[in-house]
Amino acid sequence: MEATKEKIRHLLKEKRAILLAHNYVLPEVQDVADLCGDSLELSIKAAATDAEVIVFCGVHFMAETASILSPEKTVLLPVPEAGCPMADMVTVEGLAARKAELPGVPVVTYVNSSAAVKALSDVCCTSANVVAVVNSLDADEVLMTPDRNLAQYAASKTDKTIHLWEGYCPFHNTLTAEKALAVKAAHPGSIFMAHPECPPDLLAVADVVTSTSGMLRYAKESPATTFIIGTEVGILHPLSQQNPEKTFIAASLEMTCLDMKRIRLSDIVSCLETFHGEIKVPEEIRIPALSAVQKMISMV
Ligand code: 13P
Ligand code: SF4
Repeated sequence: MEATKEKIRHLLKEKRAILLAHNYVLPEVQDVADLCGDSLELSIKAAATDAEVIVFCGVHFMAETASILSPEKTVLLPVPEAGCPMADMVTVEGLAARKAELPGVPVVTYVNSSAAVKALSDVCCTSANVVAVVNSLDADEVLMTPDRNLAQYAASKTDKTIHLWEGYCPFHNTLTAEKALAVKAAHPGSIFMAHPECPPDLLAVADVVTSTSGMLRYAKESPATTFIIGTEVGILHPLSQQNPEKTFIAASLEMTCLDMKRIRLSDIVSCLETFHGEIKVPEEIRIPALSAVQKMISMV
């Protein structure tokens, strides 16, 4: 494995490329990356880098966001089929039809969505900034896509009326309050952290609700020593690495996103050697999608 990592580092240098990895991908992929983070951090870092090539270890919508922000760069997704089932729950046709039913209502779209859906939206949000984005809008009503759980979380933090879209993450949506409370009860004094993609009754019993990088920050700063983690299990790797003296326990091993686990070190090598898996958003979609993404970034 070390030899493959070395080969990747060498190829990255040779091709003037940067390797970005989401907090959920395989541990060995996170370890070889130049930068790891949550979706918001990765979109900002993708825009700021002066590398000519971005190798994105995550899923399709993340690579599209990098292409939206950096059209002059080559964006590569080592396994181009790695997608997000929740992103697929909203289509351009479906959103256009719903917008026609809600004239004048601004659309806030979670970054876990296709570039084409972003292009039909007023502003994007991530789990890290959803409440600030919703509250920034000069409107009493908002349509949020595609995650109904994230939308209900935002609704609990704002006076605005939120129209839901019936999408959800098939992994985060499985976590129940009973299950999480049972794990917490087995570890007295532990802190239960949950991602806002989880259902509302689960979030109601969480001690902390935050994005993946929010969890990393909280765990570092908290005096607590044991944490129950209510998000995709990949986050346990950076949590344990950054806090070797603390204990992190998955609230449920069912929260394993298969798409986030698809990219292996060998895929990164072949992608850098052949430049396959290029993700390029066409200009007619990129320009309106960029407007929605930039509005979000300018608020951070
Ligand atoms: P964050 O990185 O925004 O916490 O997102 C979680 C997620 O599900 C990404 O697919
Ligand atoms: Fe999509 Fe859920 Fe996987 Fe994130 S964890 S990429 S929201 S399916």
